[in-house]
Amino acid sequence: MGWIVVGYFSGSWLAALSVCRLAGLGDPRRYGSFNPGFSNVLRLYGPRLAAFTLLLDALKGMPAVLGAKLMSCPVWLQGLVGLAVLLGHSFPLWHGFRGGKAVASAFGVLLVLVPKVALLSAVIWALLAWRLKKASMASLMSALAAPLICAWLAPEYFMVVGGFSLLVLTRHGLNIRRLRRGEEPPFRGS
Ligand code: G3P
Repeated sequence: MGWIVVGYFSGSWLAALSVCRLAGLGDPRRYGSFNPGFSNVLRLYGPRLAAFTLLLDALKGMPAVLGAKLMSCPVWLQGLVGLAVLLGHSFPLWHGFRGGKAVASAFGVLLVLVPKVALLSAVIWALLAWRLKKASMASLMSALAAPLICAWLAPEYFMVVGGFSLLVLTRHGLNIRRLRRGEEPPFRGS
């Protein structure tokens, strides 16, 4: 139970806000896609700050899930701790429950729980983002691919990874509508 609370509160720290504030730049929730995540920071302020955002958002959930894993908590409980991190990022108490899409934080949590699934999903994300120039499309496809990869490599985590993916997919409702209208902005620019 303690790890779930730690997970939620560590997840609810939004790296994009701190990184942009420290750099003396505007709140990414007010510009671009309005998303406090690495893709929007890249779009608005370039690769250096985006890399910091990605790194910190991925790292922040690791201690909680690592704690649960090292204490040999059952897989479902490890999953709940991971889900708490993602929910913290998506619905942060400190920010009026207006958070991000939990892609980077899901990557960090998966890296601890099922590293092979995390790495393969990240490769899929990077290839699609590079080819399609749409971060959201890359995230949606990776979120769909992750449970399938998991069913193959670590079936005991299938429900956990499926739950993470479901959350990430539901956080992309606006992107899906824009993609269908052909109005989704490219990865960088516009
Ligand atoms: O990682 C978030 C990404 O999937 C979408 O971000 O800023 O393009 O809405 P954005």
